[in-house]
Amino acid sequence: LLHQKTYLVDGELKQWHGDTAEVYSTISSTENYSPTLLGTIPQLGEKEALDALNSACLAYDKGQGLWPTMKVIDRIACMEKFVEQMKTKREEVVKLLMWEIGKNLPDSEKEFDRTVDYIYDTIEAYKQIDRSSAKFEKNSGVNAHIRRGPLGVVLCLGPYNYPLNETFTLLIPALIMGNPVIFKPAKIGVLLISPLLEAFQNSFPKGAVNVVYGRGRVLATPIMQSGKIDVLALIGNSKSANALQAQHPKGNRLRMVLGLEAKNPAIVLPDADLDLTVEECIAGTLSFNGQRCTALKVLYVHESIVDAFNKRFSEKVDALKFGNPWEAGAKLTPLPEVEKPGYIQELIDDALEKGAKKLNEKGGETSDNFIFPAVLYPVTKTMRVFKEEQFGPVIPIVPFTDIETPLDDMAESNYGQQVSLFGKDIDTLSPLIDTLVNLVCRVNLNSSCQRGPDVYPFTGRKDSAYGTLSVHDALRSFSIRTFVASKDN
Ligand code: G3H
Repeated sequence: LLHQKTYLVDGELKQWHGDTAEVYSTISSTENYSPTLLGTIPQLGEKEALDALNSACLAYDKGQGLWPTMKVIDRIACMEKFVEQMKTKREEVVKLLMWEIGKNLPDSEKEFDRTVDYIYDTIEAYKQIDRSSAKFEKNSGVNAHIRRGPLGVVLCLGPYNYPLNETFTLLIPALIMGNPVIFKPAKIGVLLISPLLEAFQNSFPKGAVNVVYGRGRVLATPIMQSGKIDVLALIGNSKSANALQAQHPKGNRLRMVLGLEAKNPAIVLPDADLDLTVEECIAGTLSFNGQRCTALKVLYVHESIVDAFNKRFSEKVDALKFGNPWEAGAKLTPLPEVEKPGYIQELIDDALEKGAKKLNEKGGETSDNFIFPAVLYPVTKTMRVFKEEQFGPVIPIVPFTDIETPLDDMAESNYGQQVSLFGKDIDTLSPLIDTLVNLVCRVNLNSSCQRGPDVYPFTGRKDSAYGTLSVHDALRSFSIRTFVASKDN
């Protein structure tokens, strides 16, 4: 059991003697399914939230504090120290990723390693920014020495599906650009931050990183209402983002970097390579049980090949292995949210009532906190599984004859992150790609949707995102261009 008894404010690991909350895993350690207690975390209150805010504000000190004014080379040294210490915690963090969020071993290891790589890449990109800021530009007789400066105090909130990696894609660039951060770990995937607390404390000056534990509403509300937050950095859902934004006294003038919901479609054209398409759609819909904002959440398949696609696809789904995260070959694992299997069942029932069929035998079978992915066909617009971001193991397939069907649906959708397009004929693909890039931000040709590699822009249209992440883009998102101008005299 891991009892987290401290939190990080003002450069100190403060002891907490108040209320705590139990953290459970949905992975059962017994034969009869029952959640497993993993440990406890502090339930801080408004006072501690405001202490964290004050600590970050002091570290920023209206741009004059130690952290925003520190030399680039010294800020890099802090980040290097942190990542070196973080690497020693790999085993502990990977184990907690498996227990807390049910991510399988290879993907948990990947999440950790990808985060370490991300930090090194960010350091390199930051050095490049520094080098390019040394250049002078000259236009119309005015010389400019362009730099990038911090924005202020950042509130950083990450998601449960990538509680380390995605949270750090916000926290690391925000920090390195000189912004002090208040970070509240996700509700699920919270204990895995504990092994890193000392590394934060040892590596960064007082107040640059503050880590608080507790209920989002209790902690974030006073912080947002204070009006002292300069940037809200959140990966999660738009409901939370909207609520937090509304609490800020300056409302719409709050700077934000947001990664939100998506309903990424796959469009399978008549000449698609069926084997490749099925493989990519399996990975796209079911990696980490579909709990990815980049997951394929609806498959549009041309009616001329839909029967062949459905057969191969549902057989492959049924062949996937379900097991605990550490079991070799386990592709499907228990879901970390206790309510998720019931929600997925509701979506299945609704679709079946409205005329869809379940194509795979195992679809809907339950075991531990898991429901086996159901492949549903034909799915229509009236069904909930078509409209809602399922974020879990259920796959709607929609047949189409006219390409306008998926295009119109995408245009009407509230989301616009990515699409996967499967086909071969370049004369068909080319104009389609030109249309699709105006509906989403990334078109994946004959491959499933994904965020990486992390050097590429990660963003979305409409309710899917606000601002852009990627190693380089994130540094820009958490900074502002400033310059010194001089005239030739
Ligand atoms: O949940 C959304 C993540 O950004 C997905 O990232 O495509 O690397 O799995 P990924």
